[in-house]
Amino acid sequence: MCGIIGHVGQRESLPILMAGLRRLEYRGYDSAGVAVLNAGQLGVVKAVGKIKSLERSLQGQEIAGSIGIAHTRWATHGEPSVTNAHPHLDSDNEIALVHNGVIENYRTLKEFLSRSGIKFVSDTDTEVLTKLVKYHYTDSLTDAVRIALGQVEGTYGIAVVSSKHPETLVAARKGSPLVIGLGDDENFVASDVSAMIEHTNRVLYLEDGEIAEITPNDYRIITIENIPTDKAVEEVNWTLDEIEKQGYDHFMLKEIYEQPSTIRAAIRGRINLEEGIARLNGLNLQYDELRRIKRVIITACGTSWHSALIGEYMIEELARIPVEVEYASEFRYRSPVFDDHTLLLAISQSGETADTLAAMREARKHGVTSLGIVNVVGSTIARESDGGVYTHAGPEIGVASTKAFTSQVMVLSMIAILLGRMRNVSVQQGQELIGLMRQLPDQIEAILKTDDKIQEIAKAYHHHDNFLYLGRGINFPAALEGALKLKEISYIHAEGYPAAEMKHGPIALIDEKMPVVVIALKDPVYDKVMSNIEQVKARNGNVIAIASEGDTEIADKVNHVIYVPRTHRLLTPILSVLPLQLLAYHIAVMRGCNVDQPRNLAKSVTVE
Ligand code: G6P
Repeated sequence: MCGIIGHVGQRESLPILMAGLRRLEYRGYDSAGVAVLNAGQLGVVKAVGKIKSLERSLQGQEIAGSIGIAHTRWATHGEPSVTNAHPHLDSDNEIALVHNGVIENYRTLKEFLSRSGIKFVSDTDTEVLTKLVKYHYTDSLTDAVRIALGQVEGTYGIAVVSSKHPETLVAARKGSPLVIGLGDDENFVASDVSAMIEHTNRVLYLEDGEIAEITPNDYRIITIENIPTDKAVEEVNWTLDEIEKQGYDHFMLKEIYEQPSTIRAAIRGRINLEEGIARLNGLNLQYDELRRIKRVIITACGTSWHSALIGEYMIEELARIPVEVEYASEFRYRSPVFDDHTLLLAISQSGETADTLAAMREARKHGVTSLGIVNVVGSTIARESDGGVYTHAGPEIGVASTKAFTSQVMVLSMIAILLGRMRNVSVQQGQELIGLMRQLPDQIEAILKTDDKIQEIAKAYHHHDNFLYLGRGINFPAALEGALKLKEISYIHAEGYPAAEMKHGPIALIDEKMPVVVIALKDPVYDKVMSNIEQVKARNGNVIAIASEGDTEIADKVNHVIYVPRTHRLLTPILSVLPLQLLAYHIAVMRGCNVDQPRNLAKSVTVE
């Protein structure tokens, strides 16, 4: 999704802005641009495509200066083109503005401005906003921004500079995240901390309805109603290393390999073996409050929705509480039924997904206690929820989520144990689960050691155009996740299905050209899954099985087997998904795809 970086200080802005844009690349975009104030004139350069194209367009251009803004755009209004790319300018080239989000009433505002003779060159809502700021400008850029935003309906994270104010950067937020970074003799604004982490880890998170006026040595925050507000400076505790590839070919591969340590981080300090219980202080709920919960709704999008499905199995089985899993985008537009005993869990890696945030806000509006399971510290869902659990997976840069997914599942397993222990789960059952959870990091290491074999399988099948993924019970969502990984990064059509449901439709597709990946672990439905495998084989299908270590009989019945260590049935998706992540990764690499930045996708979807 779109990214913003802005800088004001003593140093040259352009290299800082370009480095920031490169850090934001992972979020997905189709064009980019930069504006730097150079000797009283705004120097603006934009290009379609990757940052490399922008770098090429910048060659030979003199845009020195120590205040500027830059943007990566993911088209919403108007195709990706140089004209539609940000920054946008007013007609006199005095004001430059970059924007994330959607101005919903831009047509009305455009008509309003057109009546004053203002002309438009692009198809974007952002140009309208830029010209609206100029329309209201008299002598204060901040006032002009504030008055303009008062007329706006929709969402925005914006950064604005003006040739009339060579030391002032104005930023504002409603619905699209913005962070201010405080440096020495320089300050920053960005949509994502990663864009400025090499310069500072001291940050301020803007809230909806706030406007920041930022100068090299100071900042001032007001609300859209022009009321000054105070804000605590926070320290981001991750480092540059965490957002670099460190020798791996891709971020996705690095992140897959980080999972032994991210799983350790997810449970660190949160499990008590002796008492067989998880301690999740961030939930902000006392034991008696946890006991009163009679229904759980989990809402999320994409990969996080798959972890929610796994959470449903865990919570229902351990705590015997009914759980509903809802696509956030659907949930927010229904009339969901809430009651006093409902708990809502919103799961989001980024903590910024527009639909998930809106779904959580809807629940909170109805007085429902809403907890976030979020990876990005300080993100909007984390801040607006009543409590929650950070997954602590560290920055995830690959667009296709991997380590964040397994950490979410880990957190859900701890919530399920906690809710279970408040009810029927005994100390011994809790101890058994926790003991097995602690073995998962080593078991993941063992799976990663089979990567060569997975790579061979990828080699054999990477030319295929369709894949079917099957799983049953708690591994059905793992099959969905495996299929999603493949389609996201390799553009192969892949579907996930409950294994037994295959005979109600997908079986019609099976032939030697449709590889079928089956999660067939030694669990109560093993025999049933084996008969599903027979059905595939009888139709000349090729089967790649994910099987339990020690299951020798399966090898004769399928074309390929990838073994995963044994654990508690409820924890198996954390292991079964690992080979699926690696398989998708290798297939995508072999097909020459851009693994970390798949086409059309964005890491964090902050628009509807
Ligand atoms: C986008 C990403 C997915 C992600 C989904 C939800 O579609 O490409 O990888 O699963 O958003 O994101 P969230 O940050 O809310 O988990």
